[in-house]
Amino acid sequence: MESMVLTPRLACLTSLVPQGARLADIGTDHGKLPVSLLLEGRIAAAIGSDIGEGPLAHAARNAADHGVSLSLRLASGLDAVQPEECDTVSIAGMGGQTIAEILAAAPWCAQGHHLLLLQPMTMVYELRQWLWAHGYAIERETLCREDRRQYVVLSVRGGAEKKEFPLWRCAFSPALLQADGAKTYLQALLTREKRALEGMEQASTLDTARLDMQRRLVLEIKRALEGLQ
Ligand SMILES: C[S@@+](CC[C@H](N)C(=O)[O-])C[C@H]1O[C@@H](n2cnc3c(N)ncnc32)[C@H](O)[C@@H]1O
Repeated sequence: MESMVLTPRLACLTSLVPQGARLADIGTDHGKLPVSLLLEGRIAAAIGSDIGEGPLAHAARNAADHGVSLSLRLASGLDAVQPEECDTVSIAGMGGQTIAEILAAAPWCAQGHHLLLLQPMTMVYELRQWLWAHGYAIERETLCREDRRQYVVLSVRGGAEKKEFPLWRCAFSPALLQADGAKTYLQALLTREKRALEGMEQASTLDTARLDMQRRLVLEIKRALEGLQ
């Protein structure tokens, strides 16, 4: 059977799925992540769940074309997945807020029995803030580049102490500082946030709370970078 060609972002995600895992891929769309892992014999079983009928039909075609057995569910988030059916959950290619909403609707994810692989496209700071506030530990962050964009994958587990942090403390986690490429990632983040700060400072309407948060954010990233030199 022909192997599946994955983009660097999806290849990065597959590399983080433990050998022999029972995977639930939420927002599976084309189903490439579970299908390629099943095809390689890397995982024991997989569920592909999606809110859309079109994506699920796409995933069904992909699984059939590659001769693998993928259990498909039409549902929002984890609504059609039972905790005992999987040990690893991937939620990739969605906004950070949607990922947090999906986890909030499935409180069993917070118990610490499942590895969660989360790849937010936007609102990454907000997702970290939500995870820490709801008792999730960010065990690892992995960076990958696709075209000109950098993506981050969070390897997360529940069962941790709940911690409240202001948003400016959530631009990175201690785990991100250990990641390959952390320095380049933080340099790009600093450039972006400094530019946003300059824009705010020049704006005629002044939101002092927002400005204060942005200044702290820039300082926090600068300090982290100094620590990496
Ligand atoms: C951009 S695709 C990402 C596909 C794949 N996970 C990836 O990373 O390449 C987003 C998919 O998430 C699905 N989706 C969006 N919100 C969802 C939700 N609340 N529950 C389940 N699936 C959702 C969409 O239908 C779409 O197929």
